[in-house]
Amino acid sequence: MCGIVAYIGGQEAYPIILKGLKRLEYRGYDSAGIALIDETSLNLYKRAGKVSVLEDFVKTCNSRGSIGIGHTRWATHGEPNDVNAHPHFSGDQKMAIIHNGIIENYDTIKEELLSRGHTFHSDTDTEVLIHLIEDIQKSEKVDLVEAVRIALNSVHGAYAIVVISKDNPNRLIAARKSSPLVVGIGKDEFFLASDATPIVEYTKEVVYLDDEEIAIVERGEDLKIIDISKKEITPYVQELELHLEALEKGGYEHFMLKEIHEQPRSIYDCFRGRLNASEGMVNLGGITDYETKMKNANRIIMVACGTSWHACLVGEYLFEDLARIPVEVEYASEFRYRNPIINEGDIVIAISQSGETADTLAALELAKKKGATILGICNVVGSSISRITDAGSYTHAGPEIGVASTKAFTAQVTVLTLMALRIAKRKGTLPESKYRSLLNELESIPEKVKKVLDQNEKIQFISEVYKDAENALYLGRGITFPVALEGALKLKEISYIHAEGYPAAEMKHGPIALIDENMPVFVIATKGTSYEKVVSNIQEVKARKGKIIAIVTEGDTQVKEMADHFIEIPDTNENLVPLLATIPLQLLSYHVAVMRGCNVDQPRNLAKSVTVE
Ligand code: AGP
Repeated sequence: MCGIVAYIGGQEAYPIILKGLKRLEYRGYDSAGIALIDETSLNLYKRAGKVSVLEDFVKTCNSRGSIGIGHTRWATHGEPNDVNAHPHFSGDQKMAIIHNGIIENYDTIKEELLSRGHTFHSDTDTEVLIHLIEDIQKSEKVDLVEAVRIALNSVHGAYAIVVISKDNPNRLIAARKSSPLVVGIGKDEFFLASDATPIVEYTKEVVYLDDEEIAIVERGEDLKIIDISKKEITPYVQELELHLEALEKGGYEHFMLKEIHEQPRSIYDCFRGRLNASEGMVNLGGITDYETKMKNANRIIMVACGTSWHACLVGEYLFEDLARIPVEVEYASEFRYRNPIINEGDIVIAISQSGETADTLAALELAKKKGATILGICNVVGSSISRITDAGSYTHAGPEIGVASTKAFTAQVTVLTLMALRIAKRKGTLPESKYRSLLNELESIPEKVKKVLDQNEKIQFISEVYKDAENALYLGRGITFPVALEGALKLKEISYIHAEGYPAAEMKHGPIALIDENMPVFVIATKGTSYEKVVSNIQEVKARKGKIIAIVTEGDTQVKEMADHFIEIPDTNENLVPLLATIPLQLLSYHVAVMRGCNVDQPRNLAKSVTVE
């Protein structure tokens, strides 16, 4: 989950790379570094801390050069410090490398290189890789491209790398396997990065490298690609759909707040062209060819991590309730290692905002190997998961920069709702009247989200009351249980308050022992089949002096009387409540984190895309 950026062309490389690193900081930010070739000198600077620390340091250095590489790190091997930061030099300091991924067999390679006289300064697998490339180049007397190719044939694991050499200041060599790498093609210049965000302001022409491909990027030449068996690959140039303004904060204090407020638009964009309530139409073009398979599936397995896993749980309720298809939801990290039973008739759906989460990718690869049909629901176009699946649907939520996922979650739930409705319609498991009312209600959700967002000030006031809590409980029942989990995850990952989500009825099986006057309990108590049961659970908490903050349906009277605080959301069909009930919990976690002085967009220890195990 690091960020890599590189440039070669007619401009000064440093400003471009520095800006690119800032755009990628959400991918990891415990150290950063840059290497530049100025005529024949290879200058390398790196510092623990955020990109701004590197920027301050480089002010006193030679930052000239029209070719360079940059890296912002989330540590996997070796603690975050100056020495372990990337780039890393080869032994003779003629080459430098940046790397996103993990070389699984680096220790055996390191031992071999040590026996051949190499010395290392860092604890990283990346430094081993550049020494291996250097060793091959010298011992086999081959060109750098060939040395890189041979080296990549002997490493196991994941990589997105860029290598530069002062012996050839007119060429970058890049390669990828399981970690993303995009090449932007400008006019007599090239931009490389982990994703398109550092590239989009310079060019819309991009090539997404595929696994085990090596890009040879030379000044004045067309992009050349070979695979690690030396086969020439024709670059597939695509037009970027990304727009620069989508990457800016647009006047909001944090990306997270911007993205929370974007949800009326992102939910609309998610169903635009896919939903027409007046015509009773739901259509997801990306899965048309697989609808019959889905309709006849014995089982749907959903795999994901984190917030996306919570979206899968909502999907389980939707598919089972509307389309009557058994659904199993799996943590991808568990699924990939427990030798799961996957049958031919199974459909495996992966949900991932980034489309690069290593565990989710690995779970999909396992399912594919076992013969399942694999589908994807991703937000990043061209991401690895979107490219290995048989089919899928993009969420079209726009770039999500804040590490805490918000608009991606509601977009994922929207796609899952559309999918469940489409398959239910095809299967005939849903009465026409209910089908049509759900379509109409779904079309009204963006306006209803706006009404929830209008309560921002009230939610801010409640946040002030509970910002110093040390623990918190989130309760929901039925389709709002996953919302309780999501609300708890939001609070803990950005405000560092320990929070747990629970099915409300589970309280009496243990967690109720935690209840006292210091425990805020956030309860989704919206109108629905289990409303009365939730009221009883609230009474159980109140009887033990617990503080109740309830999410209720507009017009509710009963829970409002019982709660210490309440937030009203517009009435909607029970199947669609997650799309509205999540919003107050996102805002609440945001305001608590800001009041606690936490780094909302880049919380400690986290990264936006977990591309390593
Ligand atoms: C959620 O706020 C976190 N950022 C994290 O749990 C995230 O949802 C998880 O890492 C999965 O990421 P993905 O959706 O990109 O696969």
